[in-house]
Amino acid sequence: MTKVVLISGSLRAASVNSAALRAVRRIITQTRPAASVVSLPIGRLPFYNGDAEGAGTTPAVAAARALVAGADALVIGTPCYNGAVPGVLKNALDWLSRPDGASPLTGRVAAVLSASPGGRGGIDAQPALLDLLDSCEAITVEHPPVAIRWAHQRLDGAGEMTDGEAVRALRELVDATFEAVAIMAEQRRPTRTPYGAAPPPHPLDAPSRASVTSSRS
Ligand SMILES: Cc1cc2nc3c(=O)[nH]c(=O)nc-3n(C[C@H](O)[C@H](O)[C@H](O)COP(=O)(O)O)c2cc1C
Repeated sequence: MTKVVLISGSLRAASVNSAALRAVRRIITQTRPAASVVSLPIGRLPFYNGDAEGAGTTPAVAAARALVAGADALVIGTPCYNGAVPGVLKNALDWLSRPDGASPLTGRVAAVLSASPGGRGGIDAQPALLDLLDSCEAITVEHPPVAIRWAHQRLDGAGEMTDGEAVRALRELVDATFEAVAIMAEQRRPTRTPYGAAPPPHPLDAPSRASVTSSRS
C-alpha cells in the first residue's frame, strides 16, 4: 500500500494551500483506493533548538519523524511569504532534516506545489523549497511547476478546491508522484537469479531520471 503524507506550509484554517492538499487527498482516494493519505500538522512542532534536540526529541517531533519515515511520498503545499517558504514550514523541514545522516527525508519521494491569491501562484517559494529537499537528499518529483494562481477564486462555497484547471494540474502532480514512487520501488527491489546472487548491473538498466531527480545542479 502506498502511503502519502501531506504537509501544508500554512496554519490558516482557510488556507488555499491546505485546500489544494485536500484536493490532492480526494484525487488519491478516488484514483488509488488502496493508498493511504494522512496529513502532518506542523503547527504543533516547537521552534528548532539544538539544545532541545540534544535533550531528546519531543513527542510532536518524534511523531512527525515517524510519519515521514513511514511514507512512500510527501506532497508539500507551500505559500510564498516574501519570496520564500513560511518559517513554520522551514522549521518543520529543519526538524525533519535531523539527525544529521539519518534524516527521514533522505531518499523520500517529495512533490511540491504552491498556491496564492496572487498572479504568480506562490511559485517564488518553490526553488528554495526544492533546494532544501535536495540538500536533505529527498527524491524530488520532476514535473512542470504546479503554482495555483488566483487560488481563492478556485474554491467552491465549502472552501474546497474544485476548479477544473486546478484539479487537472493536481491530478497530473499526483500521477507524477505515484510514477516516482513506482520507479523508486523498482530501483530498490533486490534482483535475484536462480542461483541467489544478484547479477551485475547492465549499463542499459541505469535508473531512469526522466521523472525523478535528487539533484538540481
Ligand atoms: C508575511 C506574508 C508575506 C507574503 N508574501 C507573498 C509573496 O511574496 N508572494 C505572494 O504571492 N503572496 C504573498 N503573500 C500572500 C499569500 O500568498 C497569501 O496570504 C496566501 O493566502 C497564503 O497562503 P495560504 O492561503 O495557504 O495561507 C504573503 C502573505 C504574508 C502573510
